[in-house]
Amino acid sequence: MVTTHIGDALRSEIDAEIAKYPQPRGALLAALHRVQRETGYISADVAREVAEIFEIQPVEVMEVVTFYNMFYATPQGRHHVYVCTNLPCSLRGSRSLLRQLEAHLDVRAGETTSDGRITLGHEECLGACAYAPMLRVDETYHEDLDAERAKRILDELE
Ligand code: FES
Repeated sequence: MVTTHIGDALRSEIDAEIAKYPQPRGALLAALHRVQRETGYISADVAREVAEIFEIQPVEVMEVVTFYNMFYATPQGRHHVYVCTNLPCSLRGSRSLLRQLEAHLDVRAGETTSDGRITLGHEECLGACAYAPMLRVDETYHEDLDAERAKRILDELE
């Protein structure tokens, strides 16, 4: 039996997106956002299903998934924590902050904690340079951080 990740309701939403564009491919980003919200990440199987809908190759879907950092090709934690490591934040200690958070969570940047709570990573400038160093937890910015405060923020995440 073939497992389907994209059910009828989701397929209808994707078809509605496709209808907005002169070329179906124009709806690929919107479709991937919608699919990822449902599946958590874009696995090879999911990419194959998306590719079938768009009549393109699965590798073309994965090219998009791996190009944009808002898409994930692997299972993710319940929270995304990204430390900004661009120059202004680095000058104010963000690389050291990231190393300390890696040690605190026992993961390397890009990995997920064993309890599935947090995926830790680093990111380019998030536009809050005046409040460096900073990090983002999901959609929330935390600024003017030191390591102890950052660890407390992470410890409170469920
Ligand atoms: Fe970190 Fe801009 S360099 S927010």
